[in-house]
Amino acid sequence: MRINVKVNNENKVFDVEIGEYLLDTLRKNHYISVRKGCDNTSCGVCTVLFDGKPVPSCSLLAVRTDGHEITTVEGIQKEADIISDYFGEEGADQCGFCNPSMALTLYAMKKELIHPTDEEIKKYLVGNLCRCTGYISQHEAIKKYMGDSK
Ligand code: FES
Ligand code: FES
Repeated sequence: MRINVKVNNENKVFDVEIGEYLLDTLRKNHYISVRKGCDNTSCGVCTVLFDGKPVPSCSLLAVRTDGHEITTVEGIQKEADIISDYFGEEGADQCGFCNPSMALTLYAMKKELIHPTDEEIKKYLVGNLCRCTGYISQHEAIKKYMGDSK
């Protein structure tokens, strides 16, 4: 079937199978910043914004996005660059596999939470796994980003 989706503010028409997940739809349409990790809702690297909220695209049926808005990291490039600078400064930028999903989640968190506590940050990021950093340097970078008013 055919679905109409706004991706990164551009109207798109995708041909999808009934049981197809958005992750596969996006990747076959060249949105390859959306990563495939576990493919079972455990790692978070496939996260996109669905009407502004972070969701794992490996568990979202593509047909459910008909008429909705999807954002990948390309849609928030300027903010992603700012986040990347904070990660770099804290030594939290390693293999980069989790960076696009992390940037999208942080972007959404910053819109949603004002001056979050450490616990609120950790809770918001549950499900966003990183194999490399051990999370401490990431957490420091995230706190600086959340306090930034750029
Ligand atoms: S690939 Fe979607 S949560 Fe891991
Ligand atoms: S930096 Fe490698 S998975 Fe996060």
